[in-house]
Amino acid sequence: MNVTVIYDSYYGSTKAMAAEVAAGASSVAGAAVRCLSVDEASRDDLEWADGIALGCPTHMGSIAWQMKRFIDEEFAALWQSHVLVGKAGTVFTTGGAGGAGGTELTQIALLSNLAQHGMILVTHPHNMPGFRPDGMAWGATWATGRGDRPPTQRQIDSARSQGQRLAEVAGKLMA
Ligand SMILES: Cc1cc2nc3c(=O)[nH]c(=O)nc-3n(C[C@H](O)[C@H](O)[C@H](O)COP(=O)(O)O)c2cc1C
Repeated sequence: MNVTVIYDSYYGSTKAMAAEVAAGASSVAGAAVRCLSVDEASRDDLEWADGIALGCPTHMGSIAWQMKRFIDEEFAALWQSHVLVGKAGTVFTTGGAGGAGGTELTQIALLSNLAQHGMILVTHPHNMPGFRPDGMAWGATWATGRGDRPPTQRQIDSARSQGQRLAEVAGKLMA
């Protein structure tokens, strides 16, 4: 199955998180994975994928505009053709303060986009590796300060396990 991980990143933390999500997806047998920034990715990478992961920093309590541009230009172009209906999708976020500062709102807003396209939402259950102590059911979150706070091993585990789960669900949906 094919998995596309798409990220926006200003300081570099969300790019590092995307690499962990992609590594988790790659650990599943039969997975082909693309990990691309919003400037590199296009609607072709969405059509190619059976599972899609979206991640961005929280900016002023919501989705960073670079990711919103990608959603409104590339995702939206596929809405009328229904090609994303039934594909698996998941989201991840970084924020300066982790659970505070709007990261939860950012994740819900990203999930809303996937729902608009009829995708199967792959969430981040509380029994996944790395979930506690700062986990959220919507998706993995890293608290990075101004991009200068390295991730903990738990945070790395949570991103990897989310990528793995996305690929596993995408594979099951294809079967
Ligand atoms: C313009 C701007 C606005 C931000 N607004 C928030 C915010 O509302 N809440 C928050 O928790 N962090 C906020 N931050 C901090 C970033 O979310 C945090 O540093 C993030 O992890 C950076 O990800 P990156 O390294 O991928 O750019 C903001 C950062 C910038 C540059």
